Amino acid sequence: MAPIVGVRACVFDAYGTLFDFAAAARKCRDVLGNDIDKLAMLWRDKQLQYTWLRAAQGLHADFWQVTGDALSFSPETLRIDKLGLHDRLMALYLTLDPFPEVHDVLSRLKKAGLRTAILSNGSPRMLDAAVKAAKLDTALDAVLSVEDVGVYKPHPKVYRLATDRLAIPASAIAFQSSNAWDAYAASAFGMKVVWCNRYRQRPERLPGAPDREVRSLSELPALVGVA
Ligand code: LAC
Repeated sequence: MAPIVGVRACVFDAYGTLFDFAAAARKCRDVLGNDIDKLAMLWRDKQLQYTWLRAAQGLHADFWQVTGDALSFSPETLRIDKLGLHDRLMALYLTLDPFPEVHDVLSRLKKAGLRTAILSNGSPRMLDAAVKAAKLDTALDAVLSVEDVGVYKPHPKVYRLATDRLAIPASAIAFQSSNAWDAYAASAFGMKVVWCNRYRQRPERLPGAPDREVRSLSELPALVGVA
């Protein structure tokens, strides 16, 4: 794949892109058994739906609240409402495992002189906890939360937060997301986009068009000209 030219900063979605949101459910195998994947997917779907619905209603609540509400919905639906499970899963959500390549990729980008940042729906407290637990603090120049603009992705205000804070044009940012809709929206905003299609999603029929599609972030350094 040909490199993307003119990139000065790499900005990353957090959940599903840097951090494995399914890791929380996997660590509750003793309670969830064969329902790990079902719970993880329903929780994630509902969490995203609630962000979009709240944005449409103009009734913002932070991602911790939305994540908790989505989790309350999920076990009820799957009939796996075990005592203590909710609090255990929420605590685990604060320290999700990063995907295996994340550390190395971020360090290489930074060493090569590119700026690195997170741009996420996560609340500052959630992002701070995840970044610290994964020991990624020194590999990131900025951790940007939608809480600073009070609305969720894919509102353009969120992508503008990155261009404002990094003080560079959208076209000098490579944005990475595993969420197809987030990748398309960042592209529609004007960023260069590498869609990290870990979950083998289908292309969206939405405004925007990711510049490159990869299966993991391991392919990113070469795509932004880092050997
Ligand atoms: C985020 C969600 C969308 O981190 O994954 O913003």
